[in-house]
Amino acid sequence: MARLSVDFSGLSLRNPVLSASGTFGHGVEMQHMVDFSRVGGLVSKTVTLKPRPGNPLPRICETEAGFLNSIGLENRGIEAYLRDVVPAVAAADTVVITNIGGEKVEDFVELARLLDSQPAISALEVNLSCPNVQEGKLPFATDPQMAARVIERVRGATSKPVFAKLSPNVSRISDLAVAVEAAGAHGITAVNTVLGMKVDWRTGQPGLHTVQGGYSGTAIKPIALRCAWECARSVRIPVIGCGGVMCATDILEFMAVGCSAVQVGTASFGDPGLIGRLEQELNSLLEGAGIGDVRQLIGSIRVPGAATAKPACSTVPVPASGR
Ligand SMILES: Cc1cc2nc3c(=O)[nH]c(=O)nc-3n(C[C@H](O)[C@H](O)[C@H](O)COP(=O)(O)O)c2cc1C
Repeated sequence: MARLSVDFSGLSLRNPVLSASGTFGHGVEMQHMVDFSRVGGLVSKTVTLKPRPGNPLPRICETEAGFLNSIGLENRGIEAYLRDVVPAVAAADTVVITNIGGEKVEDFVELARLLDSQPAISALEVNLSCPNVQEGKLPFATDPQMAARVIERVRGATSKPVFAKLSPNVSRISDLAVAVEAAGAHGITAVNTVLGMKVDWRTGQPGLHTVQGGYSGTAIKPIALRCAWECARSVRIPVIGCGGVMCATDILEFMAVGCSAVQVGTASFGDPGLIGRLEQELNSLLEGAGIGDVRQLIGSIRVPGAATAKPACSTVPVPASGR
């Protein structure tokens, strides 16, 4: 058996496979389909302070190579999460990460404070793609200063590791990565969905009620891989890759560009059991390649002309070139 365990900012993951927020319920709903002892960790759907009904239908539609969604962060709010979900996930034999979202900085701070006393929650993932309602409604993730402010304040409200989930919908994601690292993030998740839309030319009907939405699945893997690589080479904190992961090969590709762990999102809709089988598939691929430890792959990409290769068996991402 190849060694699959990785350390991610102090979290011991038995393997690098995590669920992606919003694509696997809060995790507990799936326990009859997946053996959690085969999963590195579960990331909750975004939890907000108050319950949210989400956007009007249709809020999810299929495209040629992935999903478009504009769920609108439907959830029952932090009170129900603490009451109903946390006790249930406490029994799950894996690491549990809560993804938090808000309309203003104070929302994130309050959520972090409320979750801080919950031993069942190992870390917080901050969904920076939420619009900043008080300041122009642009997502926090589109502005390094806004993103940094959220992370800095969340850090001040919790003793748990804080992971900043970044958006690919920016011109230079490395600026965001550097900003959240400087603000104290313990890790980065790269990335959330890519903005997209769909329309029926006969009826003029958009695929989503909100017209635009988040594109995910197979088609976004090259975009996500590029974003994850740009983050990993720009910062020293570890990176979780996310976007278009469908199989164990995809996971190893994200690790090769510098990720220490990887999330599976849209793939779970078509195959909810997949996440529980990836451990075995990773092991087969590594054994077949004669690699005894998955950590050897982290940052193993060979960039033409690059002076240094990343040392094997490290969870520290590739040092930034030219920074
Ligand atoms: C239906 C759906 C709901 C999602 N909900 C959330 C969410 O609540 N919070 C969040 O941070 N990301 C959410 N995401 C984004 C995913 O976590 C992930 O970042 C994105 O889908 C890219 O990964 P994938 O291509 O593997 O799906 C959602 C994605 C989908 C498809």
